[in-house]
Amino acid sequence: MNQQYDFGMIGIGVMGSNLLLNMADHGFKVIGFDTNPEKVDELNKEATEKRHVKAVNELTEFVNSLTTPRKMMMLVPAGPAVDAVINNLLPLLKEGDIVIDGGNSHYTDTLKRVKFLEEKKIHFMGAGISGGEQGARTGPSIMPGGDKEAYEAVAPLFTSVAAKVGNEVCVDYLGRDAAGHYVKMVHNGIEYGIMEIISECYDVMHHGLAMSNEEMSAAFASWNKEMNAFLLEITVEILKQKDDKSAGYLIDAISDKAGAKGTGKWTSQEGLDIPSPIPSIDMAVMVRNISSLKEQREKAAGIYKNQPSLLTGDKAALVNQLGSTLYSSIVITYAQGLALLTTASLRLDMQVPMDKVLKVWRGGCIIRSGLLDTFSAIYSKDPHLSNILLNSDIADKLSSHVKDLREITSLALSAGYPVAGLSATVSYFNAFTRQTLPTNMVQAQRDFFGAHTYQRTDMDGFFHTEWQNTSAPIV
Ligand code: 6PG
Repeated sequence: MNQQYDFGMIGIGVMGSNLLLNMADHGFKVIGFDTNPEKVDELNKEATEKRHVKAVNELTEFVNSLTTPRKMMMLVPAGPAVDAVINNLLPLLKEGDIVIDGGNSHYTDTLKRVKFLEEKKIHFMGAGISGGEQGARTGPSIMPGGDKEAYEAVAPLFTSVAAKVGNEVCVDYLGRDAAGHYVKMVHNGIEYGIMEIISECYDVMHHGLAMSNEEMSAAFASWNKEMNAFLLEITVEILKQKDDKSAGYLIDAISDKAGAKGTGKWTSQEGLDIPSPIPSIDMAVMVRNISSLKEQREKAAGIYKNQPSLLTGDKAALVNQLGSTLYSSIVITYAQGLALLTTASLRLDMQVPMDKVLKVWRGGCIIRSGLLDTFSAIYSKDPHLSNILLNSDIADKLSSHVKDLREITSLALSAGYPVAGLSATVSYFNAFTRQTLPTNMVQAQRDFFGAHTYQRTDMDGFFHTEWQNTSAPIV
């Protein structure tokens, strides 16, 4: 008789095996499945008297080893691999079994899978998992959504292994259908946006203020005293890391061609489709795409001789302004991502509890920071807040920083730095906080050439004008 296991993991790579070990360390009996015999052997070596963990490479044995209703997660690459695993599992599953996709799947794929398996009375859930391999081993942020009954069944497991902040665990039920994967996608979009802003501040210090890696590391460390952000924490370490393959610092030997697995792009696509403007995230995706045009950039640099210049002025004052710029642009980037999630939850009827999302992001995940305590308290008081920029506490915090954000961004742009993230952040803020925008001109043009009609400021209704075309015809 197979020893019955509480939870199973399909795909025992670094993340999958670490998550299983985390569960085993919390007293659960866990079993892994992988087609790679080396991964199976590696995990089996971790079993001890107290740590009930086993790995197999036979799917039927894996499924039949689980207590019913079976609870299993798959950590496989997003896309066809997920469907292939589902198809292999189907003949082995019983009604009531729970299958969780813990990978970064696109939420529309998850939605299809939820509906497909619902008909077979199998609970399928999308759960974002954030925190990388270390998070999986010691406490990730887990973002499950979908079937509430299924969530209740796996909640004891997830709450035991998730990161904890104070006495709160960084996992909760985050809404209907594919809400879990939607929340994770937005998490990654905000991650992209913050990473881009950090890289732009690094660029300005590195080339604009000619600061050493140690000086830049110290600057990020001092700024992080207030923000207590994971991405700033690792930036401090990255700048100090020496290269073991050559003299000097590793960061200076790393290529500037940035990769992307796609979650940031998906977020941008959602920002256009829902719609909910997220230009800081859009620019982060764009800059990664431009960075891949290395050969063209090398040619263009030769043609235009674009060498960003040193910034003049009091260095200490500029570094101080840069810290203020970093803080305010990160807050405004979160604001955009959270506004997208709020709007999407309404549009797609996901019923995402925003206050719980912020609580789940307070620890374990890549975008964790002290700011999330502030945001979490705001949404706890007002879960339907459309944008945190409308909150008076946030407005008070930002008001003393926005001047620096505008000045540093303008200074960097004029000196030739591609501060796309910072510029998009300033423009988003300037537009969102302005009562009247120049888009009346857009309306006039649309009506002039396309008779698309316009509304007026002084009366209701839609209007079209036969515009006077006094110009000579454009041939
Ligand atoms: C996380 C990360 C992770 C993501 C990597 C790579 O929350 O642990 O967001 O899910 O896959 O950061 O993402 P990109 O290759 O798209 O940068």
